[in-house]
Amino acid sequence: MRSASVGAVRENSGMDDLPPLVERACALARNIGFPLTRDEAGPGLPSACLPGVGRFLGVLAAGCNGGRIGEIGTAAGIGAAWMASAMPADCVLITAEIDEQLAAAASKLLADDHRVEVLTGDAREVLAPRGPFDLLFADGGWRDPAGLASLVDLVRVGGRVVMDDVTPLRALPADSPMLADDVKRQLFFGDPRLLSTEVVLPDLRNSLLVGTRRDG
Ligand SMILES: C[S@@+](CC[C@H](N)C(=O)[O-])C[C@H]1O[C@@H](n2cnc3c(N)ncnc32)[C@H](O)[C@@H]1O
Repeated sequence: MRSASVGAVRENSGMDDLPPLVERACALARNIGFPLTRDEAGPGLPSACLPGVGRFLGVLAAGCNGGRIGEIGTAAGIGAAWMASAMPADCVLITAEIDEQLAAAASKLLADDHRVEVLTGDAREVLAPRGPFDLLFADGGWRDPAGLASLVDLVRVGGRVVMDDVTPLRALPADSPMLADDVKRQLFFGDPRLLSTEVVLPDLRNSLLVGTRRDG
């Protein structure tokens, strides 16, 4: 009974609707074999952003009037498609992908939107000079402390950084090393330039970290 009513509430909310560009990005991911979920990818391998993450990015992107959005790791363009579908007309999105084939496929997908630019190369080199950003989706799977700290430099004061592929603490097994040492949480909750929180997705198995840069 409870799950039936939850299902109806969710259906009526439109939460599960995908913007047309996101549908095309998901089809592209399927065509080129880019995994849509962490389960499909397997441990430690990259996968596309989940619909709950994409919707959250869209919510933030929708408020970026006259703003500049950056993304590290375009892959098949799913996160970029969510943000491009939601952002105001006067906003730009610059996304960088190190894999040439993925970058070419995503460029083609997003080619009709003049506000979106796909850069091919290492985001440390090609994206950094294009900042600072009002919203940064840091989705390149970086785990080195220097790389992680450099993400904050890419965000303007008042801007937000979002990081995906986090497992909620309550969903981790009791012996998980992530309970004691998690470089992503160390950045978001240890860097004094950020005020951060964790957002747990409706599936309760995945979460993301979001921080606002607040130093002067
Ligand atoms: C988790 S996937 C990105 C998913 C994508 N953001 C989405 O919305 O579906 C990570 C991607 O980051 C790319 N990547 C890894 N290191 C990178 C770097 N230094 N610069 C640019 N892209 C990078 C990988 O090739 C991979 O395609």
